[in-house]
Amino acid sequence: MDKLLIDGGKALSGEVAMSGAKNAALPILCASLLTAEPVHFTNVPHLNDISTMLRLLGDMGVGVTMEGVDGLVLNGGGLNNPVASYEMVKTMRASILVLGPLVARGGEARVSLPGGCAIGARPVDQHIKGLQAMGAEVKVEQGYVHAKASRLKGARICTDMVTVTGTENLMMAACLAEGETIIENAAREPEVVDLANCLISMGARISGAGTDVIRIQGVDKLHGATHAIMPDRIETGTYLCAAAITGGDVRLLKTSAAYLDTVVDKLMDAGCEITVERDAIRLQAPKRLKAVSLRTAPYPAFPTDMQAQFMAINCVADGVATIRETIFENRFMHVNELMRLGANIQIEGNNAIVRGVERLEGATVMATDLRASASLVIAGLVAEGETLIDRIYHLDRGYERIEEKLARLGASVRRVR
Ligand code: UD1
Repeated sequence: MDKLLIDGGKALSGEVAMSGAKNAALPILCASLLTAEPVHFTNVPHLNDISTMLRLLGDMGVGVTMEGVDGLVLNGGGLNNPVASYEMVKTMRASILVLGPLVARGGEARVSLPGGCAIGARPVDQHIKGLQAMGAEVKVEQGYVHAKASRLKGARICTDMVTVTGTENLMMAACLAEGETIIENAAREPEVVDLANCLISMGARISGAGTDVIRIQGVDKLHGATHAIMPDRIETGTYLCAAAITGGDVRLLKTSAAYLDTVVDKLMDAGCEITVERDAIRLQAPKRLKAVSLRTAPYPAFPTDMQAQFMAINCVADGVATIRETIFENRFMHVNELMRLGANIQIEGNNAIVRGVERLEGATVMATDLRASASLVIAGLVAEGETLIDRIYHLDRGYERIEEKLARLGASVRRVR
């Protein structure tokens, strides 16, 4: 199993390009299931989660052709096996995103229930409830969701909580339903908007994406299109934190601050200077960061996917920060590992109280989930001596060539096989 060896203490500097967004690409690739015509994608990140999704779509009969460096053509014309097995869904929960498109286009889907994961229970009841409201007959048998509908019907759906993939699944399903669907309490995440834009370019009639009420007028058919995946705001935020903790000065290219308001605000509160350009962000860090408290919540509030990275920067900041996690019940798995590097963190329910220390010291730590792993990398970059991060397959799921990008910014990072 690969490990990452970091020799900490070097201030990051220079420029590096960000990749396409994983959490936009995953639903958008599933949108190809909604049409028999080829759909072209660009700015697709090279990540294990994307390879898993392509394998899943390929198993279903979707034609997959790579195009250039970061391009891809998916052809749903040969769709013949509307099944997502337990093996696939267990590897990647986002596999559930095939459910809505499959039922909408072919009238049937068998998708394994994802079950729990490292950060919490994460049920998919809202996805199921929404499809039932659209007239699908849904049975859960032997761990699989089996959904059928001759044609979905438009419905008014109000989800019990804000769910990102739930909103995406139902929005995709509604594109081919008969009549109008209204999704209330919809997720407003930029990735939902990127998916809506792709669907619209495929002929879907969607309005309100980016607000909490999305209206979809069903159409009979969608067609092929070309879509560029938006930049990854979480990757961008992660590199900003890496630069901030090391006292660095970096310029991140091919990205945008447009979806990073709360993250940029918090970094400025921590004492960083941020310059926003059209397709780039520059961060200049102070000698020592100030502690910043935060509370995670659905977009446009502070993203849960940046919580662990901010925990890391608070570990060495001046002062005490309270970090409150409100989305997932078990998303503090990085705390014990950060403490192995010398951090002072106390957990009280869903609050973590982080008392900044002067220095961290390198140690062997274990990655437990994707963003927890990112927090360990960030901490390792400032820790004195060597930090060895085990189980970095989590990182490879969501960060493209992380050691190469960090090395470009001057970090001493090496993959150990
Ligand atoms: C997506 C992101 C993930 C991010 C999360 C929250 C993708 C591929 N993943 O995950 O990176 O951390 O949003 O921003 O985009 N819930 C239910 N029932 C449901 C659906 C959700 O109870 O049917 C709960 C979840 O357990 C969680 C909360 O709602 O507590 C939000 O989850 P959700 O927004 O659905 O997360 P994902 O879409 O899985």
